[in-house]
Amino acid sequence: MAVGIDDIALYIPRLFVDARDFAKARGMDPDKLQRGLGISKMAMVDTNQDPACMAANACLRIMERSKLAPKDVGRLYVATESSLDESKAMNSYVIGMLEQIYGDDSFGHCGGIECKFACVSGSYALYDNSNWIRAGESGGKSAIVVVSDIAKYDLGSSGEYTQGAGAIAMLVNDNPRIMQFDPKVTSTSIKNEYDFYRPFGKETPIVHGQYSNLLYMIQVKKALMSYKEKALSTGLMKLKEGETILDYIDFLNMHLPYSNMGKKALSYLIRHEWRKLPRWKKIIEKMGMEEPIPKDPRGTIESVLADSEFMAKDHEFTKKFAKTEEFQDVYEQKLASSLIASQMIGNLYTASLYLGFRSCLEFEFQKGTDLEGKRVGFGSYGSGSSAMVFSGVIAPEYKEIVKDMNLESEMGNRIKLSLEEYEEIHENKRGPNENLLDSKKEFVLVDVESSPEIKGQRKYIYKE
Ligand code: COA
Repeated sequence: MAVGIDDIALYIPRLFVDARDFAKARGMDPDKLQRGLGISKMAMVDTNQDPACMAANACLRIMERSKLAPKDVGRLYVATESSLDESKAMNSYVIGMLEQIYGDDSFGHCGGIECKFACVSGSYALYDNSNWIRAGESGGKSAIVVVSDIAKYDLGSSGEYTQGAGAIAMLVNDNPRIMQFDPKVTSTSIKNEYDFYRPFGKETPIVHGQYSNLLYMIQVKKALMSYKEKALSTGLMKLKEGETILDYIDFLNMHLPYSNMGKKALSYLIRHEWRKLPRWKKIIEKMGMEEPIPKDPRGTIESVLADSEFMAKDHEFTKKFAKTEEFQDVYEQKLASSLIASQMIGNLYTASLYLGFRSCLEFEFQKGTDLEGKRVGFGSYGSGSSAMVFSGVIAPEYKEIVKDMNLESEMGNRIKLSLEEYEEIHENKRGPNENLLDSKKEFVLVDVESSPEIKGQRKYIYKE
């Protein structure tokens, strides 16, 4: 049975912080953000927006675009790491908002939960809902998986320039117009880690940035190894002498906490995959530099990071490798188009990978690439930590959906925040009703109860 993504809709808040203004205010070189990390704008929520209303706005868009009625939707899952409650799931808030439009109890039949595993949970949600359909449990209905997050870090921290906000809703069914998932190859890796976590009651995470960068790549590589085994044993791919599975993946989408992380991860995976192939010898000869090896090749991530001589050499090697024609070809053909939206919007945690996919579709289409039958690989990562690698093939009907994709117009008129406004919002100095923008045709938060017996209850309205 073909199961996959039938439609995608996004909701990105219209406020943003400009990376150059931000860098100047923090006494940083603007090139570090733009060239070093690939960040030019970071989307920010207004005071009357939260992850639940962004999720509901993305859902409403997908319902309207695909002309769905509530009866067509059998499951609604929200994946987020910006949870609003320790117990009440975010999909219930979303259902509440959608029922303001579609009528009381119109989604009463619709099951679902909120899923959490840092940035990877949306991928688990997609996989579980695909399997619900494959198992024949859906009764012909579709599932909606929404990924919604506010990536928020402490003021003055090194994470502060990797913020952003937004939601992406994906319609999953057995007649997908965008992409069919490859069956029986989805693979995961998992390990108990503290690279990035957010203890109860804390609004911003505790982050070990360089550790998380390296762990991300190691975990995705592990999941890719398992994917490779499955791809070969199921016959999805048949490798000839000197080939790697990456040769059979036309486009790659990586988790993007910032856009250059995609490039870093691609380089890491290619090095791993090409290392034993004849092509690698030629590249090494051309580069005139051997690949460095850590003092303790079987050491921990900490020992590798502490091996400063190796880290410096490896950095130099990575930079040289990134300049080779061989890497540039793969980068331009398979990855570059997926990074454009991230540069414009920033970090969306769970939604980052899918913003990348959305970006790949729109910008490849604009280039005139024929995507039909092309295989797209996904490298999903969530701190804490787990990775998921999976793939899909673009469906013949994809143009029906992709021809109308336009990030700029879907985001609407974006408004630049001054650094003072940004810091006021960041530090929660404004109440929900002290919003900067006048919202139209979307859900907004109007109240959060503070009296003890109804503390934390949230009220949303649809602004006509
Ligand atoms: N001009 C151009 N590039 C510059 C520069 C300048 N003036 N100054 C620095 N850079 C480059 C660095 O060379 C580096 O790129 P490289 O790794 O390709 O060499 C990049 O900018 C980042 O700088 P660096 O100093 O290494 O990192 P940082 O201390 O600013 O931290 C993160 C970066 C991503 C680790 C940090 O923002 C963070 O912790 N983010 C949150 C966690 C996260 O996103 N983790 C990712 C995995 S989930």
